Amino acid sequence: MEKTSTNGTVKFFNGKQIPLEMHKAKVVQALNLVPVERRLAAIAEAGYNSFLLKTSDVFLDMLTDSGTNAQSDAQISKMFIADEAYAGSQSFTRFEQSILQVFGKKLVLPVHQGRAAENILGKSYVKEGSVVPTNYHFTTTLAHIMLNGGKVLELYAAEAMKVKSSHPFKGNMDITKLEDAIKTNGPENVPFIRMEASTNLLGGQPFSMENLKEVRKVADKYGLKIVLDASLVGENAYFIKVREKGYENRSLGSILLEMSDMCDIIYFSGRKVSSSRGGAICTNNPEVFNSLKFLLPVYEGFLTYGGIPIKEIESMAEGLKETIDENVVSQSPTFINYMVQELEKLGIPVITPGGALGCHIDAGQFLDHLPQTEYPAGALISAFYIISGIRGMERGTMSNNRDEKGNDILADLELMRLAVPRRVFTLSQIEYVIDRLNWLYKNRKLVGGLRFIEEPVLLRFFIGRLEPLSDWPQKLAAKFRNDIGESL
Ligand code: F0G
Repeated sequence: MEKTSTNGTVKFFNGKQIPLEMHKAKVVQALNLVPVERRLAAIAEAGYNSFLLKTSDVFLDMLTDSGTNAQSDAQISKMFIADEAYAGSQSFTRFEQSILQVFGKKLVLPVHQGRAAENILGKSYVKEGSVVPTNYHFTTTLAHIMLNGGKVLELYAAEAMKVKSSHPFKGNMDITKLEDAIKTNGPENVPFIRMEASTNLLGGQPFSMENLKEVRKVADKYGLKIVLDASLVGENAYFIKVREKGYENRSLGSILLEMSDMCDIIYFSGRKVSSSRGGAICTNNPEVFNSLKFLLPVYEGFLTYGGIPIKEIESMAEGLKETIDENVVSQSPTFINYMVQELEKLGIPVITPGGALGCHIDAGQFLDHLPQTEYPAGALISAFYIISGIRGMERGTMSNNRDEKGNDILADLELMRLAVPRRVFTLSQIEYVIDRLNWLYKNRKLVGGLRFIEEPVLLRFFIGRLEPLSDWPQKLAAKFRNDIGESL
């Protein structure tokens, strides 16, 4: 039977506009909402860093969609037929077939996760003095480019930094800036142009097909390669379908192939395509493939398993195919869009339009009484956890490094990211998120700042520890207990 596609929204007779789940629960995991007193203690034990919380203290885990998307019955069943072999596994052949179907690329290098692909690309192409133009950086990408002596040039268009916007493609690259950057630095110093699909740190914002075509023209003019970070490419293709003129009647599969055709090298984190592990680099260029493949056995594993269990290769192969299924890919963006619209009605500052991956609250505006050096996004994450049990992720100054003088590099955007992994949460859970955010917004002046007490030099947001600048967490918890009287 041919599958019909709904884009995750179906018209309701009563006029409601709500997303509709195109799946049913078959296996579930019980959740626990620990009392506010425990949450207060838990966030202190975690050094006010949501990465260091234990899930036994977390109600809704909105830290990330990485490795936390719900898996499909098809994926799980494929994991049982995995051909566990060190070399030449049939499962890898099936993975290659999926990549060919989805990205149109024949040469595939499996890796253990997205940043491992960045390591291999960084080691192969980036050297002292290299500059990498990108529509926006991702934390691990930046780290690998820097570690190899290169620099990232963020060539986003002005619209990207506007929190409130109706621009459908805030992830677009500014073409004039791109050409200027190549001329200024010399094409010989540009190892590749990096385009990131559904730009994570801009709030999951996509680029348009038209923009990618323009980037391709510039790349051709200067003989440069385009590297696509395709970790969230299904969602980017979905946004092209629903937002870009001329694509409304195209299948996601054909949109993805058109995008891929313009890119020389594609890499992705398998953890974002409904698998719990993995990733890959793929290309149609044998020269590229041959130059990269030598690093695989050094850093990952043999060419047909890439450092992960073969059953995860099967899961990725199936997950990739689901990336061209609209009923699957539309789920997260339609839930995010619902959240964004409801939060806007409440006057809560949120990145618009809704993007992929999660709902992004503008912590800079939410806590406009806090300077960026007191980490408003980090403070908002801690405050929100205390009053809701929901864990989000800091995407602001805490996620940046320091400069040579030891000063914070202030983030362009101070965001609290509430990830909406694919097919994990129900609409009533999303209503709970909105309700608690509403309470916090009304009591936002109670939230104070944070400072680091333990701080690694690179990627400090993962394991750094902080403390509050006053006893604001206790005061916030007391007010919450008083107002809501959370009965447990
Ligand atoms: N590129 C993008 C765009 C990503 O979002 C991520 C991971 C990576 C590369 C690295 O992949 O985690 O498999 O090594 N993003 C996660 C997140 C960590 O929560 O957004 P990885």
